[in-house]
Amino acid sequence: MNKNIFFLGCGKMGKIIAENLRENQDFSSCNFLVLKPSESNKINNLNYINNTSQIPQNYLADIVFLCIKPQESKEILEEFAKAKIFHKDTIFISILAGKNLNFFSKIFGSKIQIVRSMPNLGIEVRQGIIPFIHKNLSIENKKIIRDIFANFGTAFEVEDEKLFHVLTALYGCGPAYIFLMQKIFFEIAISYKIPKKTAYDLTKKLFLGSSLASSESGFDFSKMIENVISKKGVTEASFEVLLKDNKFHKIIAKAVKNGISKSKKL
Ligand SMILES: NC(=O)c1ccc[n+]([C@@H]2O[C@H](COP(=O)([O-])OP(=O)(O)OC[C@H]3O[C@@H](n4cnc5c(N)ncnc54)[C@H](OP(=O)(O)O)[C@@H]3O)[C@@H](O)[C@H]2O)c1
Repeated sequence: MNKNIFFLGCGKMGKIIAENLRENQDFSSCNFLVLKPSESNKINNLNYINNTSQIPQNYLADIVFLCIKPQESKEILEEFAKAKIFHKDTIFISILAGKNLNFFSKIFGSKIQIVRSMPNLGIEVRQGIIPFIHKNLSIENKKIIRDIFANFGTAFEVEDEKLFHVLTALYGCGPAYIFLMQKIFFEIAISYKIPKKTAYDLTKKLFLGSSLASSESGFDFSKMIENVISKKGVTEASFEVLLKDNKFHKIIAKAVKNGISKSKKL
């Protein structure tokens, strides 16, 4: 593949996507151009610019990744649209939380080929979840999108765009919930005088091992929990606290609900 791939924004997520594609043989002969990366996120062998006036003359983007923050996106995208570096087959790929397909069509035109996606941090290790929905994509561009997302983990097409709010709050934000659990385990281990390095290593192994065990079992999470809980044992005593009045479930559900509301407001 020999495409012009443009990144608008290259922060945490943009960098992961750009690095991942650049390392992939299928995309290695593509030309990458990045508008305004965070200083710490510069990647070797990519072309960087700080504003649209630095875009080379006659440059046309085949694929545009939109990786800026949603909060500031309207003004930035309206300004970017003026650069007119798009052709009729350009694919726009948004990873912005909360911004629907219509938002982009209003800025770039109703005929643009646009993909709205919500990759999560798992894409860093090619184990991400990438829900996506698209509008006006040609058959050929659908294949390109599948090829791109195949690098990042499990992509799946969403029929109902409204689901993006919940998918964002659950699976886009999900890694942070898991990291929070890791942090809590780590801090408790230290509070019981387990050496820091040991606590760190054990916590990471705990989550890795549990995830792998879970991914090799069926769908029944309750059964997996039961496998750890022995009658009148230690886990059972701990779970009496967690499961009392469904407290733990309720606090997570409340957090997700708050995330969904935020996604709707963005
Ligand atoms: N983080 C996640 O896990 C995650 C998951 C799924 C989707 N997302 C979505 O991904 C998007 C990016 O998130 P992020 O976590 O990667 O944020 P981030 O690290 O803050 O990246 C945003 C990037 O946009 C750049 N930028 C700011 N103004 C710009 C402009 N006028 N033109 C071009 N670039 C500009 C920033 O540069 P400076 O640093 O120099 O300001 C920064 O490099 C968001 O829309 C978010 O909803 C994030």
